[in-house]
Amino acid sequence: MNDKVLKVVFPIAGRGTRTLPASKAVPKEMLPVLDRPLIQHSFEEAVSSGFEQFLFITGRDKGAIEDHFDRHPDLEQALSDKGQALAAIRDFIPPPADISFVRQQEPLGLGHAVWCARHFSAGDPVAVVLTDDLILADQPCLAQLLEVQAELGGNVVAVMEVPKDQTSRYGVIDPGAGGSETVIPIAGLVEKPAPEDAPSNLAVVGRYVLQPEIFAELARMEKGAGGEIQLTDAMARLIGKMPFHAVVFEGRRFDCGSAAGLLEANLAYGLNDETFAPGLRSAIKEFL
Ligand code: G1P
Repeated sequence: MNDKVLKVVFPIAGRGTRTLPASKAVPKEMLPVLDRPLIQHSFEEAVSSGFEQFLFITGRDKGAIEDHFDRHPDLEQALSDKGQALAAIRDFIPPPADISFVRQQEPLGLGHAVWCARHFSAGDPVAVVLTDDLILADQPCLAQLLEVQAELGGNVVAVMEVPKDQTSRYGVIDPGAGGSETVIPIAGLVEKPAPEDAPSNLAVVGRYVLQPEIFAELARMEKGAGGEIQLTDAMARLIGKMPFHAVVFEGRRFDCGSAAGLLEANLAYGLNDETFAPGLRSAIKEFL
């Protein structure tokens, strides 16, 4: 087993009903934030956090994502004939076979999607990234989790505070004793609890570092909230068997599974980018 976490899984089989009509004929992961598709942001977060092997759990109609992470010789030729730079279309693509794709085949839930990565894990720990959750941070959120994982071992998930009336949208942690303000031992995990049943207002966002034992739990295929096989339930069964911590990450999360979240992300990323910020600032002033 490899102690260092080098493998990362992107479950991307979900349909994207909250971003219609934009995602009717285009995978929601290909919708742009600034100058690149959403999925490229998540991918670059993983690369800059030190990950080396990438698995996409895909589904029907996600072919554009495979094409995006493939070389495009005709386009490269056309650009170089015109004397244009190739970096933007080529530099983010890893060597062949460092990136692979598996079909989920049926939409049975996030837990089922992650289970599809069991052979990729091959006994090693994996990180999981939900691309709907875009996180703008000084230090990539995945790198923040890896630091805690290297120190404390076991499983680590990212959490943030949410208003109590929103707990039913998330996995929610039951904070255990000890820890610090930003690194909290997990005593329990509940998927999408009603506010009155929620053990806290600390919600899991889509960044996880998981030990390979997760796959045996997922293999039980037990259905949970919404009749789906839930990653949260499988993780909950590992509590007490190994260290399990929540990290209140530094950074801002955007729910890019919704049109409003995408719009906010575009503004925030635009204002954070030295090329786009000056023009965007003056455009915003004109609109207001
Ligand atoms: C998934 C997880 C949930 C987590 C959320 C974060 O839910 O099941 O535990 O809090 O992502 O975005 P989904 O948004 O897929 O319903």
